[in-house]
Amino acid sequence: MLTNIKDLATKLAPRLIEIRRHLHSHPELSGAEYQTAAFVAGVLSSSGLHVQEGVGKTGVVGELNGTGSDNRILAIRTDMDALPIQERTGLDFASRTSGVMHACGHDVHTTVGLGTAMVLSQLAEELPGKVRFLFQPAEEIAQGASWMVKDGAMSDVSAILGLHVFPSIPGGSIGLRYGALTAAADDLEITIVGESGHGARPHEATDAIWIASQVITTLQQAISRTQNPLRPVVLSIGQINGGRAPNIIADKVELKGTVRSLHPETRANLPTWIETIVANVCNSYGAKFEVNYRQGVPSVQNDYMLTQLLQSSAEEAWGCERVQVLPEPSLGAEDFSVYLDYAPGSMFRLGVGFKERTANYPLHHPLFEVDESAIITGVVTMAYTACKFWNLT
Ligand code: NI
Repeated sequence: MLTNIKDLATKLAPRLIEIRRHLHSHPELSGAEYQTAAFVAGVLSSSGLHVQEGVGKTGVVGELNGTGSDNRILAIRTDMDALPIQERTGLDFASRTSGVMHACGHDVHTTVGLGTAMVLSQLAEELPGKVRFLFQPAEEIAQGASWMVKDGAMSDVSAILGLHVFPSIPGGSIGLRYGALTAAADDLEITIVGESGHGARPHEATDAIWIASQVITTLQQAISRTQNPLRPVVLSIGQINGGRAPNIIADKVELKGTVRSLHPETRANLPTWIETIVANVCNSYGAKFEVNYRQGVPSVQNDYMLTQLLQSSAEEAWGCERVQVLPEPSLGAEDFSVYLDYAPGSMFRLGVGFKERTANYPLHHPLFEVDESAIITGVVTMAYTACKFWNLT
């Protein structure tokens, strides 16, 4: 089976590189993946899959029916959206849309999804169950997975696989992780309301800027003194607005930030923990406050059995030296976690770094590039893991 898959994928390689370059030249922002979705639907239909468009707004679902009696459905998820970044790679297939770029490799993910569908469609006779391909929109704004789920994309799914490109490991390598892969990412907004006054007479005012600075400092110190250091919490205030003039004491400051954590119990306690600290500081100095904590996507927790399945497929396909178990999770976020409320799953990292370069540009960088040989690595790994899911070896 593995040799078969490798042969099919190798034959498809030129076409897949063409597809990836087409997608790369025509990136679309989150929720506006109209051309991409139409293109994906076209490729899936011509490979004989049953295609449904408009699932989760601009998402596409392709279903491949096996011939056996196993009624389990294996889902394979890829995302399709690009970022509001002006590409500076100078590649001849660089983005033709000003200010929009596939700088997170979702063009590669979509191509791997399509390649896997093409390969498995040629093996459909041997598949005992169904494979459902989810081409998700709007991952970058952490919404697409919820839209897809709302439209029934996960109904009856038994397990789900996903991937993300990773420039810190070389093209042709696979990175796996048992348990936590990415963090929960929540939004935080704090408003501090004091009393305006003359800059020369602070005793007659309640300085919202000074109190805001105390709030930020106390929160950062409290992480190191009151949170379990073995359960990471990162709180970053990325936006601060307040004040009208240099000599007027500000009566209102708004802080906006992101809160990342890995442990569900830690996460559950964060809203109260933050509110208490903000309240203590504000009450000490007579300011009013409001804390708005919104839960975003949860942490991706990879299922043990499925990760083991991915590892054994990848090792068989590429040898142990090209497969690494990643020692650390990332505090980045991925809305793949939304699907994991409905079925166990595992997401792997596909190495796309150029071996000959000492440093590869990171994701979300205007010079981000990928080693395209990774596309075949992704397709074979995904297709072979799907076969092994049905015990086909
Ligand atoms: Ni991404």
